Amino acid sequence: RSKVSLASLARQKERGEPIVMVTAYDYPSAQIADAAGVDIVLVGDSGAMTVLGYDSTVPITVEEMLVLTSAVRRGLTAPLLVADLPFGSYELSDEQAVATAQRFVKTTGCDAVKVERGGTTVDRARAIVAAGIPVMGHVGLTPQTAVSIGGYRSQGRTAEAGLELARSALALQNAGCFALVFEAIPSDVADLITPTLDIPVIGIGAGPGTDGQVLVFHDLLGIWDGQPARFVKRYADLRSDMVAGVSAYAADVRSHAYPAPEHGYSTTPDEVARLRE
Ligand code: KIV
Ligand code: NA
Repeated sequence: RSKVSLASLARQKERGEPIVMVTAYDYPSAQIADAAGVDIVLVGDSGAMTVLGYDSTVPITVEEMLVLTSAVRRGLTAPLLVADLPFGSYELSDEQAVATAQRFVKTTGCDAVKVERGGTTVDRARAIVAAGIPVMGHVGLTPQTAVSIGGYRSQGRTAEAGLELARSALALQNAGCFALVFEAIPSDVADLITPTLDIPVIGIGAGPGTDGQVLVFHDLLGIWDGQPARFVKRYADLRSDMVAGVSAYAADVRSHAYPAPEHGYSTTPDEVARLRE
């Protein structure tokens, strides 16, 4: 399979071929996404919650994201690799944004970075693009600023809010973003905005009318428990499988069913006899 590029993604939008994006946070999840033939792998700051156990995406640090992203890089061949810039690592100034984006590219070999919101983020995106690093935008439900937008709830439900979303999306496109994520916005609103943009729109909770879809690895595979968001479709129940597997192992150890002879190593009777002496 040939490597996914910004140009191939643009062609997919042109041809109406849906773009498939999924998150990954380590070497095995990256290898799985790669083997499944997805187009884009995002090292989401959702990793704060899915793999680091924080209760929001806000606390994850640049250093933690760099570790996750480097591991994902080692597991990928064809998909485009995008890394989320964590909260607090790009908002302050264009200089901060460019320095952080450069650190990600140099340290991890990611292909692009993702930033949240319109507003001042538009300038940050333009600065990173000008420094030669591709940028994906993210509007609608922006978890890094969930408190200020009223919590984890859908966005753009009024005509005014929908227009504001459209304006942010266009501004991010004009700033040079190669693609956008629309998160948790009414399908009708996404349907109206998507065709007005030249760049691909990847939806999550934005209905079927976007140019692609993204889901969180642990959500779609059912690796963590808890109530998933409305937009999540579960394609597996791996947490149950994993708990069952570890439970069966624990039961085998306790009943002495594991290890069996075939799991052990042997040496010659002579050596055993000499050791006994
Ligand atoms: O962090 C994340 O997983 C994301 C996607 C849901 C788009 O930003
Ligand atoms: Na994110």
